Amino acid sequence: MAASIVKRVSRVKKLNVSHISARYKLLTGSRHFSTSKQWNKALVLGVYENESTDSIDFTGTARKFDEKADGKISQLLLTVKKPLKCGKTRTLHAVDPEFSSVLVTCIGKRGEGYDELETVDKGRESIRAAVAKAVLQLRELGENEIEVDSCGDTEASAEGCHLALFSYDDLKAEKSRKPAVRISCATRYSQDKNSMEKEWRKGAILAEGQNLSRRLMEMPANLLTPTKFAEIVKEQLADKCEVLVRDKDWAESMKMGSFLSVARGSVEPPVFLEIEYKGRQSDSPLALVGKGVTFDTGGISIKPSQGMDAMRGDMGGAACVAGSLLSVSKLQLPVHVKAFIPLCENMPSGSATKPGDVVTAMNGKTIQVDNTDAEGRLILADALCYSEQFNPSLILDMATLTGAIDVALGAGAAGVFTNSDDMWNKLQKASVRSGDRVWRMPLFNHYTKKITECQLADLNNIGGSRSGGACTAAAFLKEFVNNKNWLHLDIAGVMSNSGDVAYLGKGMSGRPTRTVIEFINLMSKETKN
Ligand code: BES
Ligand code: ZN
Ligand code: ZN
Repeated sequence: MAASIVKRVSRVKKLNVSHISARYKLLTGSRHFSTSKQWNKALVLGVYENESTDSIDFTGTARKFDEKADGKISQLLLTVKKPLKCGKTRTLHAVDPEFSSVLVTCIGKRGEGYDELETVDKGRESIRAAVAKAVLQLRELGENEIEVDSCGDTEASAEGCHLALFSYDDLKAEKSRKPAVRISCATRYSQDKNSMEKEWRKGAILAEGQNLSRRLMEMPANLLTPTKFAEIVKEQLADKCEVLVRDKDWAESMKMGSFLSVARGSVEPPVFLEIEYKGRQSDSPLALVGKGVTFDTGGISIKPSQGMDAMRGDMGGAACVAGSLLSVSKLQLPVHVKAFIPLCENMPSGSATKPGDVVTAMNGKTIQVDNTDAEGRLILADALCYSEQFNPSLILDMATLTGAIDVALGAGAAGVFTNSDDMWNKLQKASVRSGDRVWRMPLFNHYTKKITECQLADLNNIGGSRSGGACTAAAFLKEFVNNKNWLHLDIAGVMSNSGDVAYLGKGMSGRPTRTVIEFINLMSKETKN
């Protein structure tokens, strides 16, 4: 058995990278900047919201640039009587010989911070949104080198720009792709350039992690199969992490009957990814688990066809795990992380699981599969069991698990189910920094009863009625976890952005990657991990 596992693993390794992947590689690098290009330099400056019609409340950096331009920027801004409101911009030309455009963007009222009811840092969110709008407008104008004001929070400013400039147009003709833009932080007037550059880099890396998640989620399911997902993850992480690509035989040998019952409907072979990042020595890693259904048709309990294309994003949990690991490893955080990603398609076919079938998970529990569309919990059940073998200090899973969490919270926040108040507090704290919110949901026995009332097996994979659908799904997962620090994030509601988050374009959101990175960052400051 062991020999056949090794053989299969190496076959996956040797697979040729197709032209799509080659193009993908190119674009994840520094989006082919040609040296013969004409650089059009632009500058983004921040101002605070201010009622006065005869003075401008510039940021520190913006004030210096105004002085450099002999006060021309403030003069031009004051020629119109209407002061800039938060989120509004004004573009000036020919004010500074160095820049073809100077875009002034309003970052809201001075001193704005944590808003308790909104559970968000309003100051940081306004900066992200304001610089995002600015760089997009400048890209429209044909500017391709942009220097950006740190706006008093360098990290948030870097996040806003790098998230806004993301676009998934790899599959379009060259002429309709968004042009490449080089962005940098305006550090020239800073007292401490080094620490500013460092913060800028951190923000850029946080955004880069989320952008990897977005790209993976957006990729069509015919290109992003379980095998291809594994290849891309290897390409992106192999120099910093150990990446093990397990095949179907391995999953069989591990008795992952629940995971395999989902995979069996498809001709695409399933893959189980195991990734390790060892930023410090420890024997109790932090475990991440992500749902990796590369396409969810619903299986025999097939979904309606309208909007089904969105189910290419049903590997959002897996994508966020990969994106988080990219950032954690690039930031070289002193932490030990192990990630577990079950990948497969959920398809209807002659070999697919049928409603009423009974399958056995890795921990020996039997499951009656009454609805094959509730497949996420089936693949996670085995992944959670497997993760427990590594003595993790905590387990955090992410999954686009239920339509019900979208009904409950919409795109406002990811739903969090956890058995630990301490973990909840830390995750919430991380989300305040990232601006990508979370909201706590219950793990009552009330919901457990709904899935343990089962005719043929120990558990049923659905709760019997539609009520509390996200909670019964979480209760199901709870049956496969013993760890005292478990967090389950249902991210179906935040899977895509339709304009709610100003600094993310429309499409797959990659949420809540940055919250998870910040959470891991917080955990890395605790000695025991
Ligand atoms: N992948 C879906 C959940 C989903 C819905 C993700 C919308 C993203 C956007 C999941 O596998 C699913 O189909 N869940 C069912 C569960 C039900 C059958 C108990 C659902 O939510 O309807
Ligand atoms: Zn489903
Ligand atoms: Zn699904």
